[in-house]
Amino acid sequence: MNLITGATGIVGSHVLAELLKTNQKCLALYRKETRKQRTQNYLQLLGFSPELIEQQIHWKAADLFDPAALEQAFEGVKRVFHCAARVAFAPSEDQAVLETNIKGTALMVDLALKHKIEKFAFVSSIAALGSLDGGMLNEKSQWNPEATQTAYAWSKYLSEMEVWRGQEEGLDCVIVNPGIILTDAFWRRSSGAFTQRAKKQNSFYPPAQTGFVTATEVARAITTLMSSKIQGERFILVTVNKTYKEIFTALAAPWGHQGPRKRLQKFWLWIFYYGEYLLGIFKLKKRVLSKGLIANLFSTASYDGSKIEQMSDFRYTPWGESIQLLNSRANWGKS
Ligand SMILES: NC(=O)c1ccc[n+]([C@@H]2O[C@H](COP(=O)([O-])OP(=O)(O)OC[C@H]3O[C@@H](n4cnc5c(N)ncnc54)[C@H](OP(=O)(O)O)[C@@H]3O)[C@@H](O)[C@H]2O)c1
Repeated sequence: MNLITGATGIVGSHVLAELLKTNQKCLALYRKETRKQRTQNYLQLLGFSPELIEQQIHWKAADLFDPAALEQAFEGVKRVFHCAARVAFAPSEDQAVLETNIKGTALMVDLALKHKIEKFAFVSSIAALGSLDGGMLNEKSQWNPEATQTAYAWSKYLSEMEVWRGQEEGLDCVIVNPGIILTDAFWRRSSGAFTQRAKKQNSFYPPAQTGFVTATEVARAITTLMSSKIQGERFILVTVNKTYKEIFTALAAPWGHQGPRKRLQKFWLWIFYYGEYLLGIFKLKKRVLSKGLIANLFSTASYDGSKIEQMSDFRYTPWGESIQLLNSRANWGKS
């Protein structure tokens, strides 16, 4: 049995789809009935029959803050795909992001050790790799505690430390560090906002460049690693390094838009940042901008995602094909 946390999210739902392809049994954790229903609908859009979904996927309500429910979920589990996390960047979310991601991962690792599970996959992020100062980052890149980082990046870095601690204590594990994950559905959350923005024809683009990959590719990579003998390694999952402008433009095509034209100026973001900061002191507005987020929007990092191809059977789908597939499903985001 495979246990999937965050099964109602972008990555988790794609992991379910990948496991369904090989008829594997899954125990999918969820929190809200509506999100569970939406995930089941999405799996049907992908072509899986309601009968297969019902037969292969068992659902269990469990929050990462509920050790008793998680303990029960581990019964009979052999492999864990830990995809759940709070993905948010607003300073008002910082505390919740740190607690959910670090404590949730520590608890999952403890339970995996206790139940002697065979293998544990953790979905980290390129955010946990550290430096944003240009150049090519790889799996050996060191976290830089001095750099301006988001709380989310800290949470992913410290979650990885929990997984490595588990490995020291005997847990077989793999970590993946995906770039920004593009998806055709679940638009209103996490990186789903990217496709949403492309649809709405944003005028402005931040000048950043970073690594991108699709959710389908992430799920394929994780399941490949989990079926392999590889353990104790982390893998960057990035198909291409591109600017936000290039990605927004590629995703705008199905909506007949040309993509954003105006470069976002840092100066205006700082004015917004300090305006919000002042209003925040008087509790008149919840802040959405942080120094870490501004740094991200103006960074030009590149990521080398080739290690997984060198060490496993996984091969990236050509980027053009991935974008074509995403764009052909553009209106699925309504689901
Ligand atoms: N999206 C990206 O661009 C990206 C890039 C790199 C790495 N990642 C990583 O990929 C993983 C999945 O992210 P995603 O993009 O799939 O995010 P997502 O769509 O927001 O999904 C997050 C999942 O985690 C669940 N979750 C959140 N808090 C929870 C809690 N307290 N207890 C139990 N479940 C909880 C959510 O449940 P509900 O549905 O009930 O809210 C949802 O199923 C995360 O580890 C993230 O850091 C994402």
